[in-house]
Amino acid sequence: MAPEKLSRPSLLLLLPTLLLLPPQVDTRSFVVDREHDRFLLDGTPFRYVSGSLHYFRVPRVLWADRLYKMQRSGLNAIQFYVPWNYHEPEPGVYNFNGSRDLFAFLHEASIANLLVILRPGPYICAEWDMGGLPAWLLRKPNIHLRTSDPDFLAAVDSWFQVLLPKIYPWLYHNGGNIISIQVENEYGSYRACDFSYMRHLAGLFRALLGEEILLFTTDGPEGLECGSLKGVYTTVDFGPADNMTKIFALQRKYEPHGPLVNSEYYTGWLDYWGQNHSTRSITDVTKGLENMLKLGASVNMYMFHGGTNFGYWNGADEKGRFLPITTSYDYDAPISEAGDITPKLFAIRNVISQFQEIPLGPLPPPSPKMMIGPFTLQLDGYLLDFLHLLCPEGPIHSVLPMTFEAVKQDHGFMLYRTYLTYAVFEPTQFWVPNNGIHDRAYVMVDGVFQGILERNTKYKLFLMGKIGAKLDVLLENMGRLSFGSNYSDFKGLLQAPVLGQTILTQWLMFPLKVDKLVKWWFPLQLLKRSHTQIPSGPTFYSTTFTILDSAGDTFLYLPGWTKGQVWINGFNLGRYWTKRGPQHTLYVPRLLLFPKGILNKITVLELENVPPQPQIQFLNSPILNSTLHKTYIYSLSADTQSDSEPMELSGH
Ligand SMILES: *[C@@H]1O[C@H](CO)[C@@H](O)[C@H](O)[C@H]1NC(C)=O
Ligand SMILES: *[C@@H]1O[C@H](CO)[C@@H](O)[C@H](O)[C@H]1NC(C)=O
Ligand SMILES: *[C@@H]1O[C@H](CO)[C@@H](O)[C@H](O)[C@H]1NC(C)=O
Ligand SMILES: *[C@@H]1O[C@H](CO)[C@@H](O)[C@H](O)[C@H]1NC(C)=O
Ligand SMILES: *[C@@H]1O[C@H](CO)[C@@H](O)[C@H](O)[C@H]1NC(C)=O
Repeated sequence: MAPEKLSRPSLLLLLPTLLLLPPQVDTRSFVVDREHDRFLLDGTPFRYVSGSLHYFRVPRVLWADRLYKMQRSGLNAIQFYVPWNYHEPEPGVYNFNGSRDLFAFLHEASIANLLVILRPGPYICAEWDMGGLPAWLLRKPNIHLRTSDPDFLAAVDSWFQVLLPKIYPWLYHNGGNIISIQVENEYGSYRACDFSYMRHLAGLFRALLGEEILLFTTDGPEGLECGSLKGVYTTVDFGPADNMTKIFALQRKYEPHGPLVNSEYYTGWLDYWGQNHSTRSITDVTKGLENMLKLGASVNMYMFHGGTNFGYWNGADEKGRFLPITTSYDYDAPISEAGDITPKLFAIRNVISQFQEIPLGPLPPPSPKMMIGPFTLQLDGYLLDFLHLLCPEGPIHSVLPMTFEAVKQDHGFMLYRTYLTYAVFEPTQFWVPNNGIHDRAYVMVDGVFQGILERNTKYKLFLMGKIGAKLDVLLENMGRLSFGSNYSDFKGLLQAPVLGQTILTQWLMFPLKVDKLVKWWFPLQLLKRSHTQIPSGPTFYSTTFTILDSAGDTFLYLPGWTKGQVWINGFNLGRYWTKRGPQHTLYVPRLLLFPKGILNKITVLELENVPPQPQIQFLNSPILNSTLHKTYIYSLSADTQSDSEPMELSGH
């Protein structure tokens, strides 16, 4: 998996490393010049034209490539978040290895001559699971997130006491490239409005990072009142469609003097499963950018390169109902999910060039792409057949069902099992009160798939069963709310299910280690039972394949499949949901595939229905916009046979 083709072009070595070779450490400074409404960098007027790039959405070997392209676009800074839940998987256990090595990322940024605007949270939104907060915080069920609740503050304090001292040497005046640090994130949009929490955070930053570093807050126009804090520089965020004059005037109410700053200027937008793909027109984006730069404002473009929500890391929003974010975080950004320069980038670069020098010379061409397949996958067996491997410790027993958090299952799947204590001869309503399915349930009676229940969308099924029948409810955590709510988003069965008039009790809960099983490279086929008909319900499929010499990045397409999770060589690519869209392909960076001659393995956990021919294909371009406009390569006959899809989503 050598990233030979991805190393930084040697051209970079010829560029002047101005920022790396400052005169003297003690002359380095980045400050607000209130007299002239601007920033000063080393005493010289300075304005940043920055772009967001999240290291946690890009494999490490591709960081340098993406940063190089950003520098070549004329940016002088990048902005990124630090997701707490990515680095502290269990209380007191820290991970800064591999793709989690944010200091290696800071180093790559300095090689690319980019200053850094850091947003360490603790809450980051970012459409990331739980807005970056660790799910283990919810093991204290009454915790008040993002407030001065002592349980929350204690966890934040201990995390920042680990993180911030590591950040300290990277501050600009200490010889590093971090020029400013954001406190919290759009806190004013959270309905707690707890100023003592914000003051506590600012105090913690000051105590651990010193007085010199510029601290700032970012809020949308409606959030400034609760999000701004005296002594911390107030900035705003808005997109091309918003009224710049009006919103900068609001910033002036909080900062009568100093630079105008848009900390999140939206180049595109995020996608939800079941809704249309979001785009922002090039003209709108460049016009807005030009207007801000004319005013002398500093701007960060969110996103400049979006990347991917690999694994289970996507967040979700709540707008009347639960809306999980797609696996792709392409964002219609200037650099595509696969790292290619788009026409939007050229247009933005052109605008920037009217205001400041940009690097000369051509921009890198798109990376090579490949198209292979189709490949037919083999059935490995029902998920229920592998419970002993997926949950080797055996189940937890409880009269009433427990949440994922209560049994320390942060992500993925948990199976809830009970046995009917009486026979149910007529189709009888099975449901969970108070919208208590978080977030999707796959229901089996004696191993036979009955259908699904879904949060805010599908509330009931009708079941029958003999006395002693085994009722299995597989719960999928589709990503915790990252914005739009001020309550804790517990996962699993939040209430005991009801069958007819009976509250079902005596549950066995199997927290599933699906990723471990897939990574073991277990020859699942050897274990499978014989299956006569096309199976439905949660089922594993896999196959092996090899690639040709001219391998490139590619996009995995699962035509006619319904919904599930997919792994390549044990790496969790993320969720697919062909049935809903708009995303129809998953980005597969070349580096995940073995060179010619070595077998690659693909594993799919399909949760509902597969097409009669369980095939997949690797395409040479992505399909991200296929909610209503079906661009299927295969016939969709399989799709129409399936009746497990709940009501169509209505847009709003
Ligand atoms: C990180 O890497 C170090 C050294 O390779 C290793 O000892 C440690 O266990 C790793 N930590 C995690 C959380 O993977
Ligand atoms: C959450 O928001 C609601 C509605 O604004 C409010 O009534 C409630 O007190 C808030 N809860 C917390 C914990 O801030
Ligand atoms: C933008 O806001 C300003 C100040 O509030 C107002 O004068 C102007 O008419 C607005 N522009 C548009 C296009 O709405
Ligand atoms: C979807 O995207 C493709 C490729 O960018 C484009 O050709 C097509 O017109 C788009 N379709 C819709 C409905 O937006
Ligand atoms: C989605 O896109 C289609 C085609 O452009 C359009 O007809 C439809 O109204 C859009 N839906 C929403 C909710 O915007």
